[in-house]
This record gives sequence, C-alpha cells and structure tokens, in this order.
Amino acid sequence: MDHFHYRDRDLYCEDLPAAELADRFGTPLYVYSASAFVDRLAELHSAFAALDPLVCYSVKANSNLGLLKLMAGHGSGFDVVSGGELYRVRKAGGAPSKTVFAGVGKTDEEIREALRAGVMLFNVESEAELEAIDAVARAEGVKAPIALRVNPDVDPKTHRYISTGKKESKFGMDVDRALLAAESVLGMRGLAMTGLHMHIGSQITSTEPYAHASARAAELVDRLRGMGHEITWCNMGGGFGIDYRGGESRPIAEFAEVMVPVLRETGCRLAMEPGRSIAGNAGVLLSRVIFTKQSGDKRFVIQDAAMNDLIRPALYEGFHRIWPVRVPEGSPSWPDDFEAPIPGTEPRDVVGPVCESGDFLAKDRALPPTARGDLLAVFSAGAYGMVMASNYNTRPRAAEVLVQGSEATLVRRRETYDDLLGPELDVPS
Ligand code: LLP
Repeated sequence: MDHFHYRDRDLYCEDLPAAELADRFGTPLYVYSASAFVDRLAELHSAFAALDPLVCYSVKANSNLGLLKLMAGHGSGFDVVSGGELYRVRKAGGAPSKTVFAGVGKTDEEIREALRAGVMLFNVESEAELEAIDAVARAEGVKAPIALRVNPDVDPKTHRYISTGKKESKFGMDVDRALLAAESVLGMRGLAMTGLHMHIGSQITSTEPYAHASARAAELVDRLRGMGHEITWCNMGGGFGIDYRGGESRPIAEFAEVMVPVLRETGCRLAMEPGRSIAGNAGVLLSRVIFTKQSGDKRFVIQDAAMNDLIRPALYEGFHRIWPVRVPEGSPSWPDDFEAPIPGTEPRDVVGPVCESGDFLAKDRALPPTARGDLLAVFSAGAYGMVMASNYNTRPRAAEVLVQGSEATLVRRRETYDDLLGPELDVPS
C-alpha cells in the first residue's frame, strides 16, 4: 500500500495517524496520500520515458479539485469524458492543451466547449460523432484535432463490466470501420486527425493484452499515414491493474517493456490515460463501527460507510482489503494474505446502514474482534470510490482529506442535509 502503513498497530497515512484524521474530520472519510499520487505519476513518466509520454490522468477515477490541482502542478495532462470533467480540470488550473476528451455520447454543446477551451484531442468513437465534431468545428471556424478510438478486439481478461476493447463493446470502432472512417475524415474540413486512440479495459493485470494492442496500434498508424494523415500521437488509454487483494498487479515497468519497443517504431509520442493505477492505492475509506450483530451463525459489522460511499463491492463484486485502523493484540498488524486464515480473526460481513441486501463492503471477511466505535480502513478506495458515491437513502456524501507529510487538508467537506435538498423545488400548494 503506497504511503499507507502500520506503525506498531496504528494505521498511518504518510506521517499522520488515521485515527486522528477520523476524530478530526469524522467518518466516513476518504483519505488520500499526495505523495502516492505524485510518485505514481513519476513512475509512469520514467517507465515510458523513451516515448516522450504525456500522462493524461483519467479524471473519472477521482475528480476531486484538490487532487486535480496537485496533478496539474506536477505536469499531468487529463482525460475527460464530459463537459463537467473538463470544467473541473479548468477550475483546477489544468491545461486544456494537455487534455483529451473521450466518450461515446458527446453533445454539440460539449464539443463546442471543448473546442473553445482548446483541448489537445477528441477521442472519437463513431462515424456520427465525426460528423458532429466536423460540423461544430466548421461553424466555429476551426479545425478540431481528433484521434480515432479503435477497438483492437483484444480480451483484457478483466471483469465484464470494465472490459472495453472487444468487438462487441459500445466503445470505439472496429478496425475495418475505423479505416473507412479515416478515409472520410480526409474530406472533412473541420477535422485534423493527428492521433490514434485505444483503451482496452480496466484493472488489467497481465501485459499480454497491451502487447497485442500496441502491435495493432503500430500497424494502424502506418495505414493512417499511408492515407495522408499526420499521426503524431498514439494514445494507449489506461487500464493498468492495481493490487486489491495483494500481489495481483504487475509493475508499470513490465507494461512499458512490452509496449515501448513496438510503439517506438511509430515515432509517435505516447499519450496515456491511467486512472486507477494512479489513484487506486493512493486512497482509503475510513469508517466507524456503529453496531455489531449476529444472526444465526453470521456475524455482522455495521459501520457508517455504505454502498452509497463505495459501490464497487456491490456493483462488480470488487474486493477491498478491510482492516482495523488500530489492530488489537493477537492479530497481525498487516496480514500477508487476506484470503488465507488470519490468526485472531473470525469471518464477518462488513455492511452499511443502507436498506439493501446488496449494501456490503465485504462478505465473510476475516476481521479481529470489533466493537462499537472502532475504526476500520477500506483499502484501495482512491479510484472509483467517491466519484461513484451517491446520496441514496438521503445520506450525505463523505468528506475527503488530502495528506501531505504531516499536513492534512480538507479537500471536500462533508455534505449537509441542506446540500442534499438544495436543488429540489417546492410544489406550489
Ligand atoms: N480511458 C478510457 C477511455 C476509459 O474508459 C477509462 C476507464 C480510463 C481511461 C481509465 O482507466 P483506468 O486506468 O482507471 O483503468 N468504475 C469501474 C472502472 C470503470 C473504468 C471506466 N473507464 C471500477 O470501479 O472498477
């Protein structure tokens, strides 16, 4: 776990005890390590240095303004999928000229905003979108820089909900269609095709799909150039997997090892859109136990973080390690293997207060004895955690804190009931 560690039996984020953060800011609380974000960015830069990379951090993974500002300050570009995300990037001081805009359903309004902002590339996902961007760009009197999102038809061997590079996926265009579309771009005055884009899926833990996709990309760059397009960017998307259970991820350098030699041949600069591999293990979710209870043989830990705070377990059967913020004597301070028997533990379901059987963070999970008021940490929660949170059951969303060394900054305050009701309008009586 990057920058989250136990000293004796207490969890720390960088130099701050997690228990102190929970006392100070309340729970549920997302805690992020600034160093983890920055270190991962640097790691990506150095692994792919031979391709003069531009890392476009994928805003959808965690779009907190404070984090975007931190990333922009360290030279990161951004990958956005909506007008709202582009708005965030600009508010955070991110450069539109280092921002790529993806998504299968961009509206004319969003296209116009992005053109006016001066985004670096539109990742285009269909023929209809090419026509829409061309029309808006001509009306604005500019040429829109575009990359075609091509589906290389590789199986990334990840959860079916987050697999995107197969032929039957709604994303991108298959190779044959993309080549036909590329021909038609030559006749569109509002478009300049300067890149190629692929994104094959998320939480990918083997290098092979990337080797395959890179080879496909290199071939395609050649063909596109053969048609007369000046391709200078090869965008290989995001998707590098992280450790949720422990030990399943590959080091970034191993992905680079299979990608760099193939992509170098193209002479293109590499753009990348990593989200999870930067943010995932840079954040934890702290919760406090409200009650414990037993039903038949089942033991439940009911704590104040719920599916509305972190939906990954309910939605994707996502596994997140959960361990006490202060580990009691008799249990290891950090187990080597969360799926093997752990001394001093018993299986418990970790659930939230939401009225759904699907409201759980873990099932039959080995946990030390836990009592009302104890704090738990849900690990690997930095990506696709807070961004997917909702107000279901009229629950205010959690607060978020950014830790840098021994300093903690509240980067999003806890919502109030009034925040929740704010947009609702009264019915005339
Ligand atoms: N680029 C594109 C075009 C994408 O669709 C995505 C993720 C990324 C980049 C960033 O992928 P990453 O590096 O984070 O794997 N909510 C799901 C993940 C959905 C991923 C959607 N697209 C989860 O919690 O696992």
